[in-house]
Amino acid sequence: MTRLLEGKVGLVTGAGSGIGRATALVFAREGARVAVVDWNRETAHATAEAIRAEGLEAEAFEADVSDEAAVEAMVRAVVARFGRLDCASNNAALGAGFHPTTELDRARWDRCLAVTLTGVWLCMKHEIPAMLAGGGGAIVNISSQSGIKGQVRQAAYAAAKGGVIALTKTAAAEFATRGIRVNSVAPGGIETPGIASYFDANPGIREGTLAVHAMRRLGKPHEIADAVTWLCSDRASFVTGDVLLVDGGVGVNAHDA
Ligand SMILES: NC(=O)c1ccc[n+]([C@@H]2O[C@H](COP(=O)([O-])OP(=O)(O)OC[C@H]3O[C@@H](n4cnc5c(N)ncnc54)[C@H](O)[C@@H]3O)[C@@H](O)[C@H]2O)c1
Repeated sequence: MTRLLEGKVGLVTGAGSGIGRATALVFAREGARVAVVDWNRETAHATAEAIRAEGLEAEAFEADVSDEAAVEAMVRAVVARFGRLDCASNNAALGAGFHPTTELDRARWDRCLAVTLTGVWLCMKHEIPAMLAGGGGAIVNISSQSGIKGQVRQAAYAAAKGGVIALTKTAAAEFATRGIRVNSVAPGGIETPGIASYFDANPGIREGTLAVHAMRRLGKPHEIADAVTWLCSDRASFVTGDVLLVDGGVGVNAHDA
């Protein structure tokens, strides 16, 4: 059976950790040559090295997704290295801590929005022309169920993720006739270093988090990576502008039958 991304070039931001790292690995196992992008040079190189250790192809690129010059240079370097760009998962994000809306300070709001929302726009701004040059492509922006439903004490993060969904639908509509598909995956709670810091900062929240998931467990990074990879593949050729919840059934009347 043909691998999902055979012969394609894929790019993943925030690929030094968690969901992004798993996505870079699955992209490579499904046949893609992978650009591993993170602002953390060491972890980006570690992910690329882990992929190469499996005999697959990857290269690390250091970039802060909130810095347009860095994003532009990164996309140019990826195309120079691999010759083209076919798919991208814009996954890097930054929270603003945990504060009621009235107590959140402006600097945290601005930083969260700069990375989590503006970063996704900047990546698409420079990825889409590179994809068009190769005849088309597919983008999956990582949002969150909090971008749909809101999230207590995470106003900036939830607002940014809601913005990611609006950006996704807008770009999907703009480029649908030119061979570019743009979708979003909205994860529920996933076992990553990111959620570990959330649990550390909010004692007792782990149990409450599990309780709202109908499956009563957190997801694994590869469960998001698999959905992202399918959406990036030609098997999802008629899917665009969609938001796929991969969340173990958050809020599906999550009580025992
Ligand atoms: N883990 C969850 O439960 C969960 C739930 C919903 C949505 N998400 C979303 O999934 C994505 C991945 O989350 P995770 O839990 O794997 O996070 P993580 O914190 O484990 O990893 C995030 C990665 O992004 C990188 N990064 C942060 N800011 C960056 C920047 N400005 N430029 C480049 N790289 C940057 C970090 O260095 C890190 O490697 C995020 O968009 C997050 O909001 C996660």
